[in-house]
Amino acid sequence: MTQTATATKTLVLPDAQTVTSVTHWTDRLFSFRVTRPQSLRFRSGEFVMIGLMGDTGKPLLRAYSIASPNWDEELEFYSIKVPDGPLTSRLQHIQPGDEIILRPKPVGTLVHDALLPGKRLWLLATGTGLAPFASLMRDPETYEKYDQVIMMHTCREVAELEYGRQLVEGLKTDELIGEMVEGKLLYYPTTTREAFHHMGRVTDNLSSGKVFADLGIPGPMDPATDRAMICGSLAFNVDLKAILEGWGLREGANSEPAEFVVEKAFVGDGI
Ligand SMILES: Cc1cc2nc3c(=O)[nH]c(=O)nc-3n(C[C@H](O)[C@H](O)[C@H](O)COP(=O)(O)OP(=O)(O)OC[C@H]3O[C@@H](n4cnc5c(N)ncnc54)[C@H](O)[C@@H]3O)c2cc1C
Ligand SMILES: NC(=O)c1ccc[n+]([C@@H]2O[C@H](COP(=O)([O-])OP(=O)(O)OC[C@H]3O[C@@H](n4cnc5c(N)ncnc54)[C@H](OP(=O)(O)O)[C@@H]3O)[C@@H](O)[C@H]2O)c1
Repeated sequence: MTQTATATKTLVLPDAQTVTSVTHWTDRLFSFRVTRPQSLRFRSGEFVMIGLMGDTGKPLLRAYSIASPNWDEELEFYSIKVPDGPLTSRLQHIQPGDEIILRPKPVGTLVHDALLPGKRLWLLATGTGLAPFASLMRDPETYEKYDQVIMMHTCREVAELEYGRQLVEGLKTDELIGEMVEGKLLYYPTTTREAFHHMGRVTDNLSSGKVFADLGIPGPMDPATDRAMICGSLAFNVDLKAILEGWGLREGANSEPAEFVVEKAFVGDGI
């Protein structure tokens, strides 16, 4: 269910931005859009600190990937709802017209600048790790830099894939980017705990060669042509890194671009 802002309120928080719409996808996932500070410039894939004013009068801030592309006039975020989470137990109740705090200092490693030029770009995510790729998939630069872009997203259940599915579906008819995406973006969503047409962990589907066979593309990854960006739980990131390194790809950074980059989708090991 999506709600849209109809009225503007006076901004009272430091670095305040106004919520313009909220969409609840499941009982643990929602997305929302906020006004964008005029001065905020960011590279698609970066994250910022956002939050609410805490009970003690101090801002309660958490890292959030910007899910919208850098050309969008608003900012979009894709969020978990942690039942007892200090921030998201409250953030999940925001409504259009409410304010959030947004520190306008974007940073992060999931950016084009941290990768050497290549031909195929792999975007590999679990859960809300999709967020930075929701930005990159909507950025024309992604399709200018690569011949093929493959988005692998895995969640436990089908409903958890819906935000990403609708986003990819919408790209085909997008006025700005539709033609660039056509034939270049391959989308490979899978589940692990509910029946779906494609199932299995990203790691297993890469190691077994299943994803290459299913998409009819050559495998495994080749350090000369393949580039990858990884965003999921710590365990996911660690396991995937080992697979890519086994294929000869090296981890890069803003200061030293290489064949793949990694960022944690969250810190911690359980809700
Ligand atoms: C670089 C970076 C980017 C991030 N980007 C996003 C984003 O785009 N969207 C988003 O929802 N979160 C993102 N996070 C996580 C976010 O910072 C918060 O942890 C999250 O909003 C929960 O905040 P909280 O205060 O409610 O609970 P916290 O005290 O922060 O977390 C409580 C526990 O919940 C679990 N958890 C937290 N976040 C997630 C998650 N996203 N998915 C699954 N389990 C989680 C962890 O086990 C954690 O220990 C990011 C984290 C980092 C480090
Ligand atoms: N998703 C839910 O419905 C749900 C509900 C209530 C609470 N929680 C809690 O929320 C926390 C986060 O849950 P989440 O579902 O967002 O994230 P998650 O547990 O990291 O799982 C997301 C996806 O990543 C896969 N995965 C996990 N570890 C991996 C690895 N090392 N390599 C490759 N793939 C891996 C999972 O596959 P597998 O299924 O094979 O592990 C799953 O498909 C967990 O602590 C969980 O207990 C989740």
